[in-house]
Amino acid sequence: MPSYVFASNDDRERHRLRCLARLLDPMHRRALEALEIDSRWHALELGAGLGTMSAWLAHRTGPAGHVLATDLNTRFLSQVSHPDNMTVERLDAVHDPLPESAFDLITVRALLHHLPEWRQVVKKCGHALKPGGTLVVVEPDATSGMLNVVPPHQRFWSAWCRWGRREGIDFRLGHKLPGAMHAAGLDVADTVMEVPFYHGGSAWAEFYSQTVDAAGPRLGDAIDPGLVAAFHEASADPDALMCSLGWIAVSGRRAPGACKGGAP
Ligand SMILES: C[S@@+](CC[C@H](N)C(=O)[O-])C[C@H]1O[C@@H](n2cnc3c(N)ncnc32)[C@H](O)[C@@H]1O
Repeated sequence: MPSYVFASNDDRERHRLRCLARLLDPMHRRALEALEIDSRWHALELGAGLGTMSAWLAHRTGPAGHVLATDLNTRFLSQVSHPDNMTVERLDAVHDPLPESAFDLITVRALLHHLPEWRQVVKKCGHALKPGGTLVVVEPDATSGMLNVVPPHQRFWSAWCRWGRREGIDFRLGHKLPGAMHAAGLDVADTVMEVPFYHGGSAWAEFYSQTVDAAGPRLGDAIDPGLVAAFHEASADPDALMCSLGWIAVSGRRAPGACKGGAP
């Protein structure tokens, strides 16, 4: 299976993740706030990146709670200072086991679409929740690419999704999440997808442009270079209006009475 595409340890990748955090932390925090976080919760984040959400959760729970921030590569997590009740660990969400019935909250953002085995990861999270615990997942869905009114932008996102499939990435995963979480035995709350429309030169434009650049060597000739150039050009043009990938936040609760040994 292809390795994680954006595995670079360099400053550009840190900057790209910083942009992503600024764009998605507010939506992610709203999904978590809807749960009425308890100060004694034990929480786990998979693929935590820079750890901004883990740090926020650790502050939010307070000293009686605990957050385990994990990533396949803890390069950025271990470089930032974090609250005393937050621990950093290397963890491969696909291959490493999770303890059974251990967490009140598990959260995952912008990771599952990179994992062909994502449905197994969702199941594993279901088993790792305590009865009554909640899984909150935030992932993209590029189906919204067709809402772009400028045909080359639509064609760009279609080509991007085709390239993603070749790399084992499902940029259209978002809308599949509620069903997969339900199949994992979780009680899924009503869900809304956010689909930002943004101008060239905005934070979204910068993030997507950096992402396309970061994929550069792996893109090869999978996307017509003319389309890539038009995409970058529009991303820098304040008069261009584009439609982002949709971003969905899904919450699923393990039944309070679920017996040890797994979600029902
Ligand atoms: C797109 S970044 C998202 C980071 C962060 N969740 C965010 O939304 O800001 C994906 C993260 O998942 C991590 N990752 C990739 N494959 C992984 C795996 N198999 N297990 C755990 N983390 C993984 C990467 O190292 C990276 O930090």
